[in-house]
Amino acid sequence: MRIGVSLPENLLNKFDEIIQQRGYSSRSEGVRDAIRNYIVNFEWMNDIDGERVGVITIVYDHSQKGLEDNLTEIQHDFGSTIKSSLHVHLSQNTCLEVVVLRGNGEDVRKTAERMMALKGAKHVKLTTTSIGKEL
Ligand code: NI
Repeated sequence: MRIGVSLPENLLNKFDEIIQQRGYSSRSEGVRDAIRNYIVNFEWMNDIDGERVGVITIVYDHSQKGLEDNLTEIQHDFGSTIKSSLHVHLSQNTCLEVVVLRGNGEDVRKTAERMMALKGAKHVKLTTTSIGKEL
């Protein structure tokens, strides 16, 4: 199937740089690989259950209207799961927030998914581990 996608120029330039560095033969091959990774990550996130500890890192543009309010709202909604957070001002407009969670895997996942959906969030990454009992 052929699809058409609109992308900001800087995002496409960065993507082209990476597929060149990685030696992909075409942009389409790079897009297919990126979509596969996206699906694998989605499936991995859906498998998170039981008691978990997790870390979310989010890099965002703080000049994006409404983003910080929405980010704060999410953190209040999951206030009992979120144990700590750390904010670092990376540049004039870019902020990094690191959120540490502990609780039901589903709540950890939902927190990350809501942050991923924020307009202006440039990068959101979730890592989780078990709380160690079964290790
Ligand atoms: Ni900041």
